[in-house]
Amino acid sequence: MPSMIEVKNLKKHFKVPHGVLHAVDDVSFKIEKGTTIGIVGESGCGKSTLGRTIIHLLESTDGEIYHNGEDVTYLDKKQLRRYREKVQLIFQDPYSSLNPRMTVDEIIREPLKLSRRYTKTVLEEEVTKLMELTGIEERLRMAYPHELDGGRRQRVGIARALALNPDFIVCDEPVSALDVSIQAQILNLLMDIQENTGLTLMFITHDLSVVRHISDEIAVMYLGQMVELAKTEDLFNRQLHPYTQALLSAVPSTDIHNPSQRILLKGELTSPINPKPGCRFISRCPYASKHCHDPQALEELHPGHFVACSRAASELLGDGDSDRSGHGHGPESGHGHESGHGHEGGHGHEGGHGPEGGHGHESGHGPEGGHGHDGEHGHDGGHGHRSDHDTGHEYEEPRHNSERHTHPGPYDPELDGPVDTGKGDGR
Ligand SMILES: Nc1ncnc2c1ncn2[C@@H]1O[C@H](COP(=O)(O)OP(=O)(O)O)[C@@H](O)[C@H]1O
Ligand code: SF4
Ligand SMILES: [Mg+2]
Repeated sequence: MPSMIEVKNLKKHFKVPHGVLHAVDDVSFKIEKGTTIGIVGESGCGKSTLGRTIIHLLESTDGEIYHNGEDVTYLDKKQLRRYREKVQLIFQDPYSSLNPRMTVDEIIREPLKLSRRYTKTVLEEEVTKLMELTGIEERLRMAYPHELDGGRRQRVGIARALALNPDFIVCDEPVSALDVSIQAQILNLLMDIQENTGLTLMFITHDLSVVRHISDEIAVMYLGQMVELAKTEDLFNRQLHPYTQALLSAVPSTDIHNPSQRILLKGELTSPINPKPGCRFISRCPYASKHCHDPQALEELHPGHFVACSRAASELLGDGDSDRSGHGHGPESGHGHESGHGHEGGHGHEGGHGPEGGHGHESGHGPEGGHGHDGEHGHDGGHGHRSDHDTGHEYEEPRHNSERHTHPGPYDPELDGPVDTGKGDGR
């Protein structure tokens, strides 16, 4: 059975004034059907860019993307439309992603209407079903986003994302803006929906305690690269990458006899612009050695547990040990020494580099309809290979055969969807 999503050597680079920013750099992994992968790492490490590139809201620079076994690396306009029905995004801040001038009913109805699959009566029923599924009270049907609390707004965002029966949803920090009690409700809702529909989820967060609850697997990212990937419990039981050790040490322990010892990281954060080929954690790693200047590939050190650290590899397997299964995640690397873990003192460098999601307002996550604000990924304009709907930054490192695409026109209150920018653009 094919995986729901598989990416191979995926790259997303942005051209910036001082060089090329490697936001996602050679990332390979799979997400099995009906499971949830948690993507964690500090702000700016490329989590959102990874999610958006997979669902074609950003155009990849290199690598391959597969959806349900089908190569979706390049999509023409028609294929992109179909793909957009199958993959969806739930945003951190539902408030900025919901059109303030549309009621709950209209917001949920919009993607259904644009798909032209339903008659008016069926549309009505579908909206009702989606509201029930996501726990939105009927009395709120005609309410506007500003009249809802954060949790309900996120329910509307989820209902809208579910409208066309997607099989894969990228949830980008969907509970980070919510109170802890509401967070649990939304997480439970997502898990219930997954149980009932078999949805596959990619759950992006900087908060490890949140992903533990919801994820089958967790991938840790550091400066554009995946440095560790394991089943959730394996990762919580044993972190093999020094960065993961530091990250997990910040999660409060539930065991009062064994409180977590926070590992504070010292050292300058490496720049993601024109990075050197070696380990990107080297400047902050307490175990750095000369071997760490070599490229570090993700390799499977235990069944299902992948790590990109030559020291972890040699510590576990010993130099010269060739019994590595390493399937599917790139070339092997590795030699090194040392053992022990933990590193104390210094002043922490937590919190990353660069604003969280600092590139524009988000809007529109319908099948092809952006609807307002900045039209981040409005419609499937343009044609040919890849789509690119990220507008916040001027520069980008395009793939050779790529084209930039047009963006939707401004939001027109008279219309339900984005202003049609011309005939024959597929809608
Ligand atoms: N459109 C863009 N243009 C230039 N740089 C970008 C763009 N989008 C993201 N970046 C940069 O890519 C890196 C990864 O960003 P992002 O994926 O938003 O990280 P995260 O979601 O983990 O916080 C950051 O350094 C960010 O500044
Ligand atoms: S490769 Fe070296 S610098 Fe990188 S995490 Fe491992 S020990 Fe640290
Ligand atoms: Mg982000």
